[in-house]
Amino acid sequence: MAKTQDYRLGEFTYPRGWFMIAEASELDQHRPLAVRFFGQDFALYRGRNSGTVVLLDAYCPHMKTHLAAPNRTSYVIQDGAGTNIEGDGIRCPYHAWRFGADGKCDDIPYHQGPIPAAAQVKSWQVVESLGAIFVWHDPEGGEPQWDHPSLPQWDDTAWVRPKWDHLGTLNQHPQELVDNICDYGHLSPIHGSTVERFENEFIGHTATQRQCGGHRTLVSADGVSASLHTLTTYHGPGVLISDLTGIYEAVMLITHTPVDDGTVKVWHSLVVKSPSQSAVATKADQVAAGHYQEMALTAFAQDIEVWNFKAPCINGLYLPSDGAFMKARIWYRQFYNPRAKTQEILDQCEGVYVPRGVKPYTEPKLAA
Ligand code: FES
Ligand SMILES: [Fe+2]
Repeated sequence: MAKTQDYRLGEFTYPRGWFMIAEASELDQHRPLAVRFFGQDFALYRGRNSGTVVLLDAYCPHMKTHLAAPNRTSYVIQDGAGTNIEGDGIRCPYHAWRFGADGKCDDIPYHQGPIPAAAQVKSWQVVESLGAIFVWHDPEGGEPQWDHPSLPQWDDTAWVRPKWDHLGTLNQHPQELVDNICDYGHLSPIHGSTVERFENEFIGHTATQRQCGGHRTLVSADGVSASLHTLTTYHGPGVLISDLTGIYEAVMLITHTPVDDGTVKVWHSLVVKSPSQSAVATKADQVAAGHYQEMALTAFAQDIEVWNFKAPCINGLYLPSDGAFMKARIWYRQFYNPRAKTQEILDQCEGVYVPRGVKPYTEPKLAA
């Protein structure tokens, strides 16, 4: 397992960006969820008054109790009908200090007088979107630099709203997954694609891959293959959105979030336009879309199977016909460094790149 430093990514161990931390439905049990990302533990819950999602640092400042670890015996939980979520706040199971959604302690049942200002935990900026919870993580503590992930298709009745596939935690640094955006050479052997056109473009916080060709995994239920166009963009370091036009129109989502330095949690989903083209997806559309998502998951699992057992690629033996790996790795560094360095990094990677010997997807523009 290699770490951020091994890849020489930059000053920060964990990158800046929007990251998925849970599927929204995981919070519907009225119990807090203990989650771990960026080498830290958090308490994640849905407020009972407003329904808004709250993410707090996990450990109570009083005596460091985990606010969201499973607990069934404390009377805080028993008297709370199985939960320590109170309104939009959460009560520590140990001595019953309560913290509001802003992370500030607002009640200590056995204490007279003012509550010390230090009695607080950090409250993180989270949004609920695409049936998932996303956090803005920023080592510099700044405001979001780009919008949180969203899709107009998610709320469109002509599209089938999917479930999220939970791929679990991989013992790989996310760098190994991000490399995939420019990996022209794996498309045929891994996915059975007969790639006709391929190119990458790096602009600001986005890294895009455009490709088209046949595909042996993403086919219709009766095995018919259509030429597949994929326009795939990383919006920041952890959220990939891919417009697919093949047998059906679909949008693939792949999200991944560092857990500890060198491990990453991964999710996958696929929003499919109703195959019958009806304005409101029918039951049959839902079934067909579900099958298509299974196939898309199979295609992604083809990558995962390799990632599960590969050694970290710190210095690859790249060929000019492999793709723009070095440019993609430079692009990825912007998220591991202070914002003040972003332009210097982008100056070294922005542009359009086509692997040697491959047809560009669009007319080639010259790299800046
Ligand atoms: S440890 Fe949380 S209230 Fe004491
Ligand atoms: Fe792949």
